[in-house]
Amino acid sequence: MQESEAKIRIEQLREVLRENSRRYYVDNAPTMSDYEFDTLMHELERLEAEFPQFDSPDSPTRRVGSDLDAPVGPNAERDARQGFVQRPHRYPMLSLGNTYSIAEIEEFAARADKALDGTPFSYSCELKFDGTAICLTYRNGRLVQALTRGDGIQGDDVTGNVRRIANIPQRLHGDYPAEFEIRGEILMPYEAFDALNREREAQEEAPFANPRNAASGSLKLIDPEEVAHRGLWCTLYHIPAESATFESHSQALDAAASWGLPVSEDRRICHGIDEIKAYIDHWDGARKFLPYATDGIVIKINELACQRALGYTAKSPRWAVAYKFKAEQACTELLSIDYQVGRTGAVTPVANLAPVQLSGTLVKRATLNNADQMALLDIRVGDWVFVEKGGEIIPKITGIDPAHRSAGALPPAFPERCPDCGTPLVKPEAEARWFCPNQDGCPMQIKGRLLHFVSRKAMDILAGEATVEQFYDAGLARTPADLYDISKYQLLSLEGWQERSAQRFLDSLEASKQVPFERVLFALGIRYVGETTAKGLARHFGDIDALAAATKEQLLEVEDVGEVIAGSVFDFLHKEEHLEMIARLRAQGLRFDGAGKGAALSDVLAGKTVVISGNFSISRERMKELIAAHGGKAGSSVSARTAYLLAGTKPGPEKLKQCAKLGIPVISEEEFRAMLPEDIATAGSGLPPEGVSAAERGRIPSPSGDKPADADTEKNGQNVEELTLF
Ligand code: IVH
Repeated sequence: MQESEAKIRIEQLREVLRENSRRYYVDNAPTMSDYEFDTLMHELERLEAEFPQFDSPDSPTRRVGSDLDAPVGPNAERDARQGFVQRPHRYPMLSLGNTYSIAEIEEFAARADKALDGTPFSYSCELKFDGTAICLTYRNGRLVQALTRGDGIQGDDVTGNVRRIANIPQRLHGDYPAEFEIRGEILMPYEAFDALNREREAQEEAPFANPRNAASGSLKLIDPEEVAHRGLWCTLYHIPAESATFESHSQALDAAASWGLPVSEDRRICHGIDEIKAYIDHWDGARKFLPYATDGIVIKINELACQRALGYTAKSPRWAVAYKFKAEQACTELLSIDYQVGRTGAVTPVANLAPVQLSGTLVKRATLNNADQMALLDIRVGDWVFVEKGGEIIPKITGIDPAHRSAGALPPAFPERCPDCGTPLVKPEAEARWFCPNQDGCPMQIKGRLLHFVSRKAMDILAGEATVEQFYDAGLARTPADLYDISKYQLLSLEGWQERSAQRFLDSLEASKQVPFERVLFALGIRYVGETTAKGLARHFGDIDALAAATKEQLLEVEDVGEVIAGSVFDFLHKEEHLEMIARLRAQGLRFDGAGKGAALSDVLAGKTVVISGNFSISRERMKELIAAHGGKAGSSVSARTAYLLAGTKPGPEKLKQCAKLGIPVISEEEFRAMLPEDIATAGSGLPPEGVSAAERGRIPSPSGDKPADADTEKNGQNVEELTLF
């Protein structure tokens, strides 16, 4: 690889890995499978070794992923009202080197043999639990502190929440040291995970992608009461050698078990590589019957003196390694290939499959990523293909079964022209994908951008795929700014729209004017600007004028913004049509400032905890933001400290009962909005905009015309598309 190509690739890899690391650790919503992430990380490691001139101390290869979500610094105590206080780890919390290859485990063992030079030692083989890491401190036999891994140096203090996890003892018994630390994993067993997701879906909340995300999301809940109901579970696997005196790791864990701490019984002491391999083979199959998720095996040198001799790299110990299991696969027939055009113009081949069961769901479609990937797989329609789940969200094809190929099957031809608008496709340098360059005229791109704009994580406007399609076909919307010019009269002239659905749509448009700048910025759909980058940019620059005036160098000052993102933001904000659209959106009342300044709308709810239940005219997520924007705290369960229960349609009967018992007032959405200052109270209040006749206002709505937008905007996940590098 040429030096210039390597530079671009290294930068792309760093950005993608950083963004995904944040999605994994902070948002609990990964968009990449562990395997893809690890493969990209290994590619970056190789490139950095080959091209040391591009070394950077903050490369993801040198940093432990961070789950920190609250600000650090002198105001940490105050800010903890929103998040958690951060506290330093006494000993850094490192991660483990990992591999998917047995040959590399053999190399690990050979290296240990060589380095320990005849000193007898053994291995402790353990399950690799797939949850979120925790560090507990016990003083005089009492649990005094629980910290998340955070960035490895300091973690969030989640002691209150950890106290509500049933199998973590508050008090120890036996012969425990006066003070020690013990580390392990917080897990959500499958049963609790399924129950939680059923409940979330019933409440129209996005389900968690997997038990790991559910565990780490639950551990970061503000209300310990709620944590207690999540069915979390803990297993402990490491006492830092400095924290207690033992000869071996296994003795330390046996002792911990004797003090009443939850330690896995599935550990084995192995002597040599054959016993390690036998352990791996056993658990590769047996883990499917465990009640919780595991994603590999951890192999540790057992003797602590040997561990000390081997030491650490910047990121992980040299005395341990993780062997990771590949995701579950299914094999099925490839029926046909569609070519989808995303909002950026990227063309993604999507496979239509004979339906097959995979990790509990029926898979009918899978992504093939790009033309190179198709060529690499040498895939043909009619082949039997292997499917895996990427990030457990979008399945992907990872291989074919050559034994099943029928004679005469021809390789599919990747289209030369856009399947939607017919424009010849182009492949930019250093991109793995083909693009339709017709940004302003290609219907799929235009609709894709609109759909991204209205999606729940962006402007949260009540419109889904079918609605956007309808607006497009009727010539009502080409850019997001057009949406705000649509009148009720125009809506009612469209098929299937009724007074009520039209009003709900207009209300959601009105409510979107309160969406904070960082989400508006994300909604604009600037390439490579995902939610977290948008947040970073908004907080750094404060408003759109400062952002638009920024030079590329100034953009590079924002944490985690590299040249690719800086270039993309700069180009976007220097295009006449984008500036015009922003000016229109601004005139229509959208927020293009107020970021990074606390941005509270009022303090009418200061010091009050409002619990919400049921459905509202805006999503529950937005309702919680609205409460926070007025100084309140959105609680999730009713207690004596609750100020109000804000009840929408179909509130939870248990919550109502609890309110009746504790004498807590139950208020409707209208009553709630009436508490807010005038200008905000009308947003999304159900009032028709001016110019709507009394006759229209009086018409009886029919629910049949309503389309739940959230359901179909979420699955598009267009921001996901931006990060595919395969
Ligand atoms: S030992 C210094 N043992 O996997 C290393 N980690 O990818 C201490 N994990 O950070 C970690 N099961 O969160 C260890 N049996 C096990 C584990 C385990 C899961 C997690 C842990 C670690 C990560 C590394």
